[in-house]
Amino acid sequence: MPENPIYKAMLKQIFVACFAFLCIAISCTAKPKPNRYHLLMDRDWKFFLGDDSNAPSPDFNDNSWRVLDLPHDWSIEGEFKKDAPTGGGGGYLPTGIGWYRKQFVLPAAAHGKQVSIQFDGVYQNSEVWINNHYLGKRPNGYISFVYDLTPYLVPGKNTIAVRVDNSHQPNSRWYSGSGIYRNVWLNITEPIHVAQWGTYITTPDVDAAKATVSVKTKIENKGRQPASVTLTSVIYDETGNVIASDKAPVSLTNDTSGEFAQQIQVNNPVLWSVDAPHLYTLHSVITLGKKILDDYTSTFGIRKIEYSNINGFLLNGKRIKMNGVCLHHDGGCVGAAVPIKIWETRLKLLKQMGCNAIRTSHNPVAPEFLDLCDKMGFLVMDEAFDAWESGKVKNDYHLYFDYWWQKDVTDQVHRDRNHPSVVLWSAGNEIPDQTKDRGVELLKNLLTVFHTEDPTRPVTTANDDIAADSNSTKLPFMQEEDIVGYNYVDRWHERRELFYGIDHYDHPEWKMIGTESESLRSTPFYSLGMDSTKVRPNYTGGMVRAEQLWKFVAVHDYVIGDFMWTGIDYLGEARWPGKGSGSGEIDMINLPKDGYYFYQSQWTSSPVLHLLPNWNWKGREGQIIPVVAYTNCDTVELFVNGKSYGIKVQEFPRQGNSYAWNKYARPYVNGTTGDLHLSWDVAYEPGAIKAVGRKNGKQVIIDEMQTTGQPAALRITADSTQVMADGKDVALVHIIGR
Ligand code: GAL
Repeated sequence: MPENPIYKAMLKQIFVACFAFLCIAISCTAKPKPNRYHLLMDRDWKFFLGDDSNAPSPDFNDNSWRVLDLPHDWSIEGEFKKDAPTGGGGGYLPTGIGWYRKQFVLPAAAHGKQVSIQFDGVYQNSEVWINNHYLGKRPNGYISFVYDLTPYLVPGKNTIAVRVDNSHQPNSRWYSGSGIYRNVWLNITEPIHVAQWGTYITTPDVDAAKATVSVKTKIENKGRQPASVTLTSVIYDETGNVIASDKAPVSLTNDTSGEFAQQIQVNNPVLWSVDAPHLYTLHSVITLGKKILDDYTSTFGIRKIEYSNINGFLLNGKRIKMNGVCLHHDGGCVGAAVPIKIWETRLKLLKQMGCNAIRTSHNPVAPEFLDLCDKMGFLVMDEAFDAWESGKVKNDYHLYFDYWWQKDVTDQVHRDRNHPSVVLWSAGNEIPDQTKDRGVELLKNLLTVFHTEDPTRPVTTANDDIAADSNSTKLPFMQEEDIVGYNYVDRWHERRELFYGIDHYDHPEWKMIGTESESLRSTPFYSLGMDSTKVRPNYTGGMVRAEQLWKFVAVHDYVIGDFMWTGIDYLGEARWPGKGSGSGEIDMINLPKDGYYFYQSQWTSSPVLHLLPNWNWKGREGQIIPVVAYTNCDTVELFVNGKSYGIKVQEFPRQGNSYAWNKYARPYVNGTTGDLHLSWDVAYEPGAIKAVGRKNGKQVIIDEMQTTGQPAALRITADSTQVMADGKDVALVHIIGR
């Protein structure tokens, strides 16, 4: 038998199934026997950077092609070049055309079954063949898509060929990557099976005592005979216990599909929330007599979401401000093919910062990313597009929008709508059509599809021209939206101080969200400059503005939340010799910047205290250096070389405003900066600088820094001592000078 990973994976699953069957026989556990295979197809592909129209042929000789495992991004492997066709948008990396091929043998057990191939993301313009038969084209580089292979499979070797065309540049404003940069799966089912993304699970009634889980299941009968089968939907809790189920007879004529609705009551549900993200699993089991034809699993959460023009966003009846960040899809030095451990590390850091919401700017993300958001408790604004009919760069999605938008949106919603983390759809970012009558038509069409495919979540768009001096967002455009999304709400005139206040007054019925706004970006913007004779103001206007905006958002309940640009630095949108954008509060190698602690001081309640800038100002001895602290302590005392520079207190909101908007339990305090940071003017002297944070009069946290000497050593740390040899795991290593 040839070394065939699919065959091996199937054998393994069959072994597991047999073992499970034995366990059932022995322990009478209620779990059904699986009869579906969802096999990772990432190993052993052939790759060629260039074009060759003969490649789909099974006889094509690909001996000279490179062997690699997916996910793969060829752009990140290339050289940065100032004249790269992607320009700064794509981070000056190469793109072009590439081919992938894979040959595989299906085991005899797969004969007579339905076999499909699922790509979770190919950038872009992918075309796929099986055994020289053309399956189709998909321009969108961020969407998951599936082809049915069943009619074209042969006994023995089968050949998949994929052509990827990312040569039409520029086609993106940020780094896209090139190639099959997300997972590929082979799905094998019986002719009667649950369709791809075939369950739609919602929780229309939720309270502490019980919840109704509404399940719609799409079942396909690809067989030649009509069939009468049974659909049993079984809900398991996190420990694997069955907690509720429902059985229904299902009749299907041949070669057809049907959707079947069930309502299942769950008593004493454990709700999904950002602090306690409990998940349930639904098994959709199709049986014919005693034979199990399918066992399709879907993860979901029981939770209730509400949006209000008065109270913002409510999760399970409780108001929650969205402390949001925008994220692009790349992982820094790994490019677009991001090992999931990198996202896990990054999301942990964001969680520790107090972030509870993510905007997937400006495209659908990898499904594993949403799985992490479900598990870790993030609210997700799931965004579709950066352009509709009018483009932003020459070859972007506007070339494909008219033909593809409906299919892309439908697939995105079907794939993502069971994720409890997804609480809001965004139909687009800074869509130029927002200022045109035609844009209103397009928005209406999009809303119809989103609402039809998922009536449970609202839809917004991220509008950047709401109060533009000329050519502003059409009023009917905003009036159509379920939630009006504001990009850079503070950009225009008096909105710098009044923010949402003007529109809230004029349109009190609008629900409003800050889809995008400037991050604090304190590093490297806090700077006294290179010239030691000149002292420049260092707490920049941008930093003050970010603080002011957050102050407004925090105390105005009607503002659903704010998504700052960006949580993490990303590749592209750069100016040579830069390769990426530094707008994140976490850098590309996952180190928090100063601004990270600003958000942590506002978004978390455990003691936070962070001093800036660093304490190396050789040549500036005696000059005043404003020392800043981000903190959520009641008071902070600053010491330089043991001498106290006094206690500062932060008061927010200012006296007189307490109880005006919300309830604040802060005691009366004297002296306030009115800002969200504390600041001391210190005449620089090298040595030790230390801040002591107190709450209720008790010391709760210290932050200290030293003037450093010459670098003496390098310290290497790894986040794990073992790496799984599975082609997926990674260790993150940091090298720090000491
Ligand atoms: C926004 C845009 C983002 C990014 C950002 C850069 O207007 O939505 O995609 O380009 O500007 O500051």
